[in-house]
Amino acid sequence: MAAYDPVKYKWSSRDNWNLVAPEYHNGWAGAGRGPFRSTAQLVKSAQVVRGDSVLDVGCGTGAVSMQVASILGSSGLIVGVDFSRGALRIARSAVPAGNFVEMDAENVGLHGRFDRILCQYALMFFPDPARVLGNLRTLLKEDGVLAVAVHGTARGVPYFSTIMEPVLQRLPDIRPEGAPTVHRFGEPASLKDVIESTGFADVSVEKFVYSYDAGTFEQYWSDYLSTTAASIRSKIQAAGEKTVLEIKERARESARHFTNNGVIIFPWDVLIATARTK
Ligand SMILES: C[S@@+](CC[C@H](N)C(=O)[O-])C[C@H]1O[C@@H](n2cnc3c(N)ncnc32)[C@H](O)[C@@H]1O
Repeated sequence: MAAYDPVKYKWSSRDNWNLVAPEYHNGWAGAGRGPFRSTAQLVKSAQVVRGDSVLDVGCGTGAVSMQVASILGSSGLIVGVDFSRGALRIARSAVPAGNFVEMDAENVGLHGRFDRILCQYALMFFPDPARVLGNLRTLLKEDGVLAVAVHGTARGVPYFSTIMEPVLQRLPDIRPEGAPTVHRFGEPASLKDVIESTGFADVSVEKFVYSYDAGTFEQYWSDYLSTTAASIRSKIQAAGEKTVLEIKERARESARHFTNNGVIIFPWDVLIATARTK
């Protein structure tokens, strides 16, 4: 199995986000679909108020920044950082009041301190999340709040696992060993531990269950391959028609548990953690 190289992983992840950003924004984050109902909850959990200075880490196309900006008023400040230029382009046009900067979250070169730091669906993708959190702690004011949203476990987010599990069974080498997965902090204890390990206090984790209408199985299959699995689609297809069909049939079987009248409605567990500097 190929060894996991964090630098190459970040480059290919950045290329992938550049590619999928428009669809991600229009079909998911910007549209507030399914798990993205968490955006309003995250902003609420962070207790953002008018006039705050707020940092949005892994801001993507600006879903969180947009809701924050609507609360801040003209005296507040919203700064979003992300390493995907394509995502930032969308964020800039979606949130004119925002200040969006192209940066690797593992090397954030910002000075000053923020009242609130928010991070939605990005922490699990950082090769060294503790390094990111440790740095964020130095960027948070003493009475500030950190608020982080992540996806739940493979079982709690069947949208991902219904197709990914049969892919991994047939093509175990498709993901280098040790590479970050979307479920990395899906257990509340693992999310709490990584935040506490970087010196934050008052860490609390709450679980929310949303639902996602994936349409028919054929719609789910093609949407999944063109967005969520865009970076590995060519590798799946290279395995040959027979293997792809086997994966598809296994996924179809699993999706039946969530299908009613031909439409798949997946439950979607989301964890939101909040913490303070001390
Ligand atoms: C699932 S998207 C979430 C975007 C946004 N927070 C939202 O809720 O819509 C993950 C984002 O993390 C960004 N990202 C991943 N690794 C990163 C890194 N090392 N530095 C900066 N951004 C990163 C990606 O470019 C992508 O925009």
